[in-house]
Amino acid sequence: MKVVSSIVLLWALLLTGATLCVAQSGEAPPASPEAPVQPLPFSHKKHAGDMKLPCTFCHVKPDPGVQMTLPGTAKCMRCHATMGTDKPGVQKLTEFVKSGTPIPWVQVYSVPGFVYWSHDVHLTAKVECASCHGDVVKMDTIAKVTNVTTMGGCVGCHKQREGPTGCMTCHEVNSAHLLMSPLPKKLRRIIHYADGI
Ligand code: HEC
Ligand code: HEC
Ligand code: HEC
Ligand code: HEC
Ligand code: HEC
Repeated sequence: MKVVSSIVLLWALLLTGATLCVAQSGEAPPASPEAPVQPLPFSHKKHAGDMKLPCTFCHVKPDPGVQMTLPGTAKCMRCHATMGTDKPGVQKLTEFVKSGTPIPWVQVYSVPGFVYWSHDVHLTAKVECASCHGDVVKMDTIAKVTNVTTMGGCVGCHKQREGPTGCMTCHEVNSAHLLMSPLPKKLRRIIHYADGI
């Protein structure tokens, strides 16, 4: 199935002159936010909104800055050793801490491993968290509210902001993943050089 959809997509791209037909559907995110059920009722609205804790208090970006991280429970316990200890959510948090188990948060946003992705280049280019993750400070539960994890979502914004749109920006075109598709050799070459890398 994966291979088939790759081929279909490649053909679609090639047949339209490889000029990124995907981009047209690239900006306005369809709001179909279905939040996953998380192990704790942690609220961004409460912590980042009402209490105004900065995003970077909890989400640090270790070198080389590809990924943001989730906070460990020690950070939560700076407050919850004493605050809100009568609340069921905080009691659950304390149970995880006592048993030494990391909280098994369900990841909301993710891109496949064959996509070059880095938070760092975007934050350096001053793209706001909210452009890709929506108005987090108003969310009790985080849901995927943008199409940023799709190719159309990436390319749509790159077009708007005059960012790079060549295939090699986000893919190693020589990678097994793209080359293993049984495309005719000639087409592979076109893909390879399409953007004059
Ligand atoms: C700067 C202090 C602070 C930090 C850090 C903090 N919290 Fe809180 N949290 C609060 C306060 C204050 C409340 C509101 C408590 C109340 O309503 O009595 C709260 C509420 C909660 C609640 C809701 C309790 C309920 O059932 O209404 C949960 C769950 C929670 N926090 C989990 C966490 C987790 C998980 C972390 C770490 C990722 C964390 N908190 C980090 C201060 C903090
Ligand atoms: C007090 C700690 C805390 C603060 C402050 C905080 N976050 Fe979070 N964030 C978490 C925790 C814990 C999770 C995992 C649980 C969840 O998804 O709600 C999370 C998850 C997320 C996710 C989903 C990650 C994924 O794909 O699973 C995004 C996006 C996010 N935060 C963005 C933000 C932004 C933007 C801000 C600032 C406006 C912010 N966070 C502030 C603790 C925090
Ligand atoms: C240009 C879009 C974009 C911007 C800007 C952005 N993110 Fe993300 N974020 C993503 C994508 C895409 C993923 C999925 C990455 C993956 O699969 O590793 C992600 C994943 C995350 C995660 C889950 C952990 C991880 O790295 O996979 C957290 C937490 C997060 N982002 C928080 C933030 C915060 C906080 C900011 C602002 C300081 C921010 N993001 C800015 C697109 C963005
Ligand atoms: C909301 C806008 C936005 C979204 C969404 C977005 N980007 Fe970007 N991206 C940018 C901007 C702006 C730059 C910086 C361009 C520059 O500095 O010339 C950039 C740069 C990059 C670069 C560095 C290119 C280079 O040669 O330096 C890569 C790689 C990249 N983005 C991949 C992605 C991927 C993969 C996604 C989707 C998962 C994505 N981007 C989503 C705005 C966005
Ligand atoms: C700005 C980033 C970006 C650019 C530029 C880009 N892609 Fe993608 N591409 C992605 C992301 C993200 C995905 C994963 C989307 C998903 O899984 O839904 C993807 C997925 C794909 C897939 C699907 C693979 C599979 O197995 O599902 C193919 C094929 C592909 N891209 C080819 C191309 C080609 C050819 C170009 C140049 C015309 C290109 N991409 C340009 C970000 C990009």
